[in-house]
Amino acid sequence: MSARLAVIGDPIEHSKSPAIHAAFGQQCGIDLDYQKIQVAPAALTDFLDQFFSSGGRGLNVTVPHKEAAYQWVKQHAPAARVAGACNTLIAPADGSSDAVVGDNTDGAGLVLDLKRLGVKLTDARVLMLGAGGAARGAMGPLLAEGPAMVSVFNRTQSRAQALTEQCGGRVWTPGDAAFDLVIGATSAGLSGQAVNVPSGAISANTLVYDMMYGAEPTALMQAAIAAGAGQVEDGLGMLVGQAAEAFERWFGVLPDSAPVLAQLRRAS
Ligand code: ATR
Repeated sequence: MSARLAVIGDPIEHSKSPAIHAAFGQQCGIDLDYQKIQVAPAALTDFLDQFFSSGGRGLNVTVPHKEAAYQWVKQHAPAARVAGACNTLIAPADGSSDAVVGDNTDGAGLVLDLKRLGVKLTDARVLMLGAGGAARGAMGPLLAEGPAMVSVFNRTQSRAQALTEQCGGRVWTPGDAAFDLVIGATSAGLSGQAVNVPSGAISANTLVYDMMYGAEPTALMQAAIAAGAGQVEDGLGMLVGQAAEAFERWFGVLPDSAPVLAQLRRAS
């Protein structure tokens, strides 16, 4: 029988997750039935109870349900605990919904994608733009790679302070030299606004990686090119990376992201 999986969100119609997981299943020879399901916030708890009590194997969770899913699960993987949010739910072998594990693979997916790009994180100087949920999810997995520093720059400095106190790293200070890697983790691009990058942060040796993606280079990527960044990348690879990490949590095998990413690029 195929493993029953889904991504839930509201809205959900544009999700690429079904295509990504179908490709992973094919690659790994695992038979799965992966749907996308729109779930309104008020219906979330009933949906989760029903999905797992009827034998669902796992879920991906996207906006706006990541925090509520965290509240619903009773068992949290460490990355979910740090983020306070879950993007992946994993059913236990015995089918009891009390034992569903909530994880967060966004940060691991980012690191996986950076490695695909050949980024050496050990001893790297990293600047995180943003101090919200996306930045929070990335801090632990990034710091685990042993960078020289992760500085956090945020429009509201008190949130940068709070994030570094909880998750490690340090707040950006004027006079910081250029960084090896700058990561865009704000929601500024969603409203078409350009995010402010501190002056001096970007040099010709800097890779600027935006967690956002789209058919065109994002506002941050364009600003980074104008500022002389050596390389810019969007977050489509992170999307595939977080999916690969979720697949690994469900089936114990980490699929190869590269061909699936290439397939998505061709389709967009
Ligand atoms: P997410 O889960 O996407 O991280 P969030 O928790 O609401 O969402 O955080 C949004 C992040 O984007 C914050 O760091 C926010 O900065 P503030 O803490 O100052 O609000 C940042 N952000 C949103 N719009 C921005 C803009 N126009 N310029 C700079 N930063 C922006």
